[in-house]
Amino acid sequence: MAAVQVLLIEWLVGLLTLHLASSLLLSPDGQTSALTAKAINDVFKTSSSGACSLIAMSDGTATSYEVSMELALSNRAAGMGVFEVEVGGSDGNVTQDLLAQIITEARKLRQASWCSNVVVLSDDPAFLASFAESSLRGRLLVWATRLLVVTRLPLHELRRLLSSSWTFSMMNTMTLLIDSETEVLRCSIYVHLPFSNKAKVVHVVSWAASQELVLKAKTALFPEKFNNFHGGLINITALPFRPYWVEEVKEAADGTTVKSYAGSDGQLMNTLAERLNFTFRVMEVKDWDEVTSKVVERKSFMSGVYHVLLPQRRKRYDFTFAYERAITEFSMAKPALRPRWQSLYYPLDESVWLCILALLALTPLFALLIICGGKMGQKEERADVRTVALEMVGSLLGQSIAERTGKHNGGRVMLASWLIFTFIITTAYRGNLTAALTLPKYPPRVETLPELVEVVDKITMPPYGAEFEEFFSQSDSVVFQTIAKKMELVSNILDGLKGINEKQSHMDGERYLRLAIAEHFTLADGSNRLYVGRGSVLPTIAGLPIPHDAPYKHQVDRLLMTIIEAGLYEKWSEDMLNQARREGRQRERKLKKLQDNGKGNEEPEGSDDSIKALTIVHMQGPLLLLLLGLILALMVFAVEGVASKC
Ligand SMILES: *[C@@H]1O[C@H](CO)[C@@H](O)[C@H](O)[C@H]1NC(C)=O
Ligand SMILES: *[C@@H]1O[C@H](CO)[C@@H](O)[C@H](O)[C@H]1NC(C)=O
Ligand SMILES: *[C@@H]1O[C@H](CO)[C@@H](O)[C@H](O)[C@H]1NC(C)=O
Repeated sequence: MAAVQVLLIEWLVGLLTLHLASSLLLSPDGQTSALTAKAINDVFKTSSSGACSLIAMSDGTATSYEVSMELALSNRAAGMGVFEVEVGGSDGNVTQDLLAQIITEARKLRQASWCSNVVVLSDDPAFLASFAESSLRGRLLVWATRLLVVTRLPLHELRRLLSSSWTFSMMNTMTLLIDSETEVLRCSIYVHLPFSNKAKVVHVVSWAASQELVLKAKTALFPEKFNNFHGGLINITALPFRPYWVEEVKEAADGTTVKSYAGSDGQLMNTLAERLNFTFRVMEVKDWDEVTSKVVERKSFMSGVYHVLLPQRRKRYDFTFAYERAITEFSMAKPALRPRWQSLYYPLDESVWLCILALLALTPLFALLIICGGKMGQKEERADVRTVALEMVGSLLGQSIAERTGKHNGGRVMLASWLIFTFIITTAYRGNLTAALTLPKYPPRVETLPELVEVVDKITMPPYGAEFEEFFSQSDSVVFQTIAKKMELVSNILDGLKGINEKQSHMDGERYLRLAIAEHFTLADGSNRLYVGRGSVLPTIAGLPIPHDAPYKHQVDRLLMTIIEAGLYEKWSEDMLNQARREGRQRERKLKKLQDNGKGNEEPEGSDDSIKALTIVHMQGPLLLLLLGLILALMVFAVEGVASKC
């Protein structure tokens, strides 16, 4: 049966009952306990300045209990929490649960103090391993928290224990090994250096009751572990994400292939590796989910590619310094031109058309009045309304007209003004018609988020969009909620972009999206079927995912800040985009050459691809008009035929 006693979670430990303390001090074991407590206090006093709160955890054995009590008595300067998990029986699960509860309490204490130290007292490797596991899960330790493991385990067992867990090997942990063989209490202090070039578990200092701590040269207590990785190999996760992360496979001289990483984030990782003196290996992963889940499991030290900082994601992992402004944008298909018979009508404004119609109706009347008015007597030359009207329309369409003005000056003036009017109107109409046919008016595009939400039925995103969907669905904004409802995940950006039509859009990071469209959807004439909307979906900041409370976070952060402030990251991004543009142009040129070869070089060299043939889209109006005319004529002809038969 396991029991828990949270003895004290008080700020200042008040007075433990004197009678308890004195009875402990009297026993020979009490003597050892007091000395052990003194050693622990000495270690913390030497390594930290100022008053830190102390959290003591013991496994419920008599000795560790006594040492905790001694610590509580001697540590009056700052806050202290003493926790005890009594390990008994074989029911390991319950101990785990209790440990988890206690660690939650201890974490609160740690968060409430500006500086804290943790002591774990146990001789039981299983308890220590459980503690390591639970403290990691309960997020008890950060790098600033010093952890001292106090134990009597044999050295070889201690080495195995230290190497086997993240808490003991990577975090700010030291071990006080009590040498129980000798009469006088002697302690040795060890630290595990994960990236040391020599031994991993290093003996730092010995402590004897009579002496002060004698520090060996170089290695101080609680040393910084991640200033220099000493060329160590670390695992990271990443997937190709142009222009940020680009894999380049080169063949080395001896025939083996060597992968190198370019792109702005690739350069960033190369620089981190150089400055912190590590080499990195990109783990094999299937998708973006695995990129971050490996980070969560601490198999990967960090992700090589930036991730947008979302609250959902922070629950699973931490982020380094946010060095990139990542903008999520949407892409849509350009609206297509529909065949329009109205193209003939567009060049002139409605009022102009009305005026022309009115003039066409009125002018023949005037003409008749003026031209024919004086010829009342000459019957053979008398013009009827029909011919005059026909001739006027003919002149409007650029046909020649017969001389019918007679000898009246009034008629000539009228004719001259009509001809000038038709000249201006037809020239203007022709010019505008040509322009309207070759530069057609496109329907309006979807450019903002509210427009998008209204128009589309489906918005696709790559698998990491699941977190965005969750984020959007929690938003107060109706627009974002609708996006979340319409969102659908696709396996990659190309699938998403291929599926785009007038009712479907794809969302992704700005630069990645633009590059993918430019690379895969540029037509031979340099134009593009897709476009990126002007309104961005989500302007955010982004950093590299790292495990919760990663002990190397501040080293990485410091370097990232240096890189950003030096303007290097911007430069790398710029370089990468330029390179991508250059490659795109080269590829286009190659493609065009291939097409030209296929055609047997029929077209002369340097043919201008800006000349565009008019399509049925443009010419539908005139064709329809002719067809309509023909049908009408046919009908009239038929009606006349029938009428004459009767
Ligand atoms: C302890 O945990 C294991 C695995 O999680 C489970 O199979 C077992 O039943 C648990 N035992 C008790 C007593 O809860
Ligand atoms: C990097 O690590 C290697 C291997 O331990 C070491 O020889 C080298 O001096 C280190 N470089 C720097 C700059 O610390
Ligand atoms: C990296 O991964 C390999 C294989 O998955 C593993 O053997 C190695 O220990 C890992 N290295 C680190 C530092 O975790």
